[in-house]
Amino acid sequence: MNRFLEDPRFTGIEPFESKLWLSSPTMHGAERHWVDDAIQTNWVSTVGANIDAVEEEMAAFTGNRYAVGLSSGTAALHLATKLAGEKLYGQARPDRGTLAGKKVFASDMTFDASVNPIAYEDGEAVFIDTEYDTWNMSPEALEKAFQLYPEVQLVVIAHLYGTPAKMQEIKEICDRHGALIVEDAAESLGAKYKMNGQWVETGALGQYNCISFNGNKIITGSSGGLFLTDSREDADKVRKWSTQSREAAPWYQHEEIGYNYRMSNIVAGIVRGQIPYMEEHISQKKALYERYQEGLQDLPVKMNPFDEENSVPNYWLSCLLIDEDAMAPAVRGEREHLYHTEKGKSSPGEIQDALTAFNAESRPIWKPMHMQPIYRTFPFVTAKGNGRGSTNAYIAGSAADVGADIFRRGLCLPSDNKMTEEQQKKVLEIIHRCFL
Ligand SMILES: Cc1ncc(COP(=O)(O)O)c(C=O)c1O
Repeated sequence: MNRFLEDPRFTGIEPFESKLWLSSPTMHGAERHWVDDAIQTNWVSTVGANIDAVEEEMAAFTGNRYAVGLSSGTAALHLATKLAGEKLYGQARPDRGTLAGKKVFASDMTFDASVNPIAYEDGEAVFIDTEYDTWNMSPEALEKAFQLYPEVQLVVIAHLYGTPAKMQEIKEICDRHGALIVEDAAESLGAKYKMNGQWVETGALGQYNCISFNGNKIITGSSGGLFLTDSREDADKVRKWSTQSREAAPWYQHEEIGYNYRMSNIVAGIVRGQIPYMEEHISQKKALYERYQEGLQDLPVKMNPFDEENSVPNYWLSCLLIDEDAMAPAVRGEREHLYHTEKGKSSPGEIQDALTAFNAESRPIWKPMHMQPIYRTFPFVTAKGNGRGSTNAYIAGSAADVGADIFRRGLCLPSDNKMTEEQQKKVLEIIHRCFL
C-alpha cells in the first residue's frame, strides 16, 4: 500500500482511474486520413506528399522560407549545429566534427538534446545560467560569458516549457559579438516573441532553427522534427546530409559524410493531420495554466513565469516553484531523493510522490546541464562570472546558481491538454494537502 493513500492528510481522495499524463499525444482522426493515403499510394518511405505538405505548411506558419522534415528534433539540432560549425570554421574531415576545438555557449536548463549536438561535432559547450524572469538563458550571464570567452561565435538557445527566452537582448548581445544562433524551439512551437516591435514565431528567431514532433509535444508525428531557415542553400545542405549525402551519380557516390535523418512520409502524415489542431492544443494548455495559477494562489508557490509584454507562450508545461521559506528539507542524490514532511511546507519530491500515488504524472524541472555527470567538467557561467569553483569554505553565503535553485524548488505539473477541470481540481487538492 502506498503511504500517501494511508496518510490522514489525504483522506477522502481516490486515485485517478486512468493515469493523468504530463503531456501525451492527442489524436483527432485526421491523422489517419493522411497515413492511409501514404499507404494506399505506396509512398511508405522518406519521400512523399505528406512530407512536402508538412514542410510547406510549417515554413509558412513559422515565417521561414524553408523547412526540412527530419526524423527528430535531435536530428534537426545536430544538422543545425553542424551547419553552423561548417559556416564558422569550414568543412571538417569526415572523421572530425565541425566544432573541433571550439567552444559554444548553450542554454543550461534544458533537455540534453539541445546541447549534445555540440559534442557530436567535437565542440565544447559552455553552459550559460538561467534567469528567474523566464527560466531561460540569462542575457546578463551571456554577456559575462562573452567577456570570459570572446572567441565564441555560436550560441544554442532553448525556449523552456514553451516560454520564449528574452530574444531581443540575447540577439543584440550575439550581434554585437558576431555570434550565430541555433534556436531550439522543440518545446515552444506556436509561441511568439516581440522582436523589434514585431511578433515573430519561435522557430524563426535564430539563423538555424529547430522544432520537434516528439510524442509529448504540442503537436506530434509520434516522432519527427524540422530544420527551419530562410536560406535555400542551408535547407538544401541539410536535406542532402539527412539522406546520406548522396551525389548525383548512377551509383552511390559520396563527397561528404551523411546521415539517415529524413522524416518518414508516415510520420509526416500524422503531423499533417495534427497541424490544424495546434491552436486548439495551445488554448487548452493555456486554460490549464490559468486554472493552476488561480488554484495555487493561496499556496506559497509561483507558476513558471513569462514576459507578458513581449512574449506569448504556448503553455506546453505548467510548473510550480515553491517559495524558499515554504521548502521542507529535501536532498537529491544522483538517482534517489529524500525529504522531510513539515507542517505548512512541502518539496517537489513530496508533491511528485503524492501525485504519483494518486496516478498522476509530474516531473522535476529539467536538471541543468552543468549539474549533469557527463558535463560536470565543462565551463559554466553565471551573471556573476565563472560559475565553477566559486564557493569558499571561509566565505559565508549561498553560491547556488539560478538553474540549480529552480531545479531544487520546481516541479512540472500534469499538463495534458485532455485533463478535465474536475481532474485538475483533484490535482490542485492533492498539492494543497502536501502543505498541510
Ligand atoms: C528542449 C528540447 N530540445 C530537443 C528535444 C529533442 O526533440 P526530439 O525528441 O524530437 O529528438 C526535446 C524533446 O524531446 C526538447 O524538449
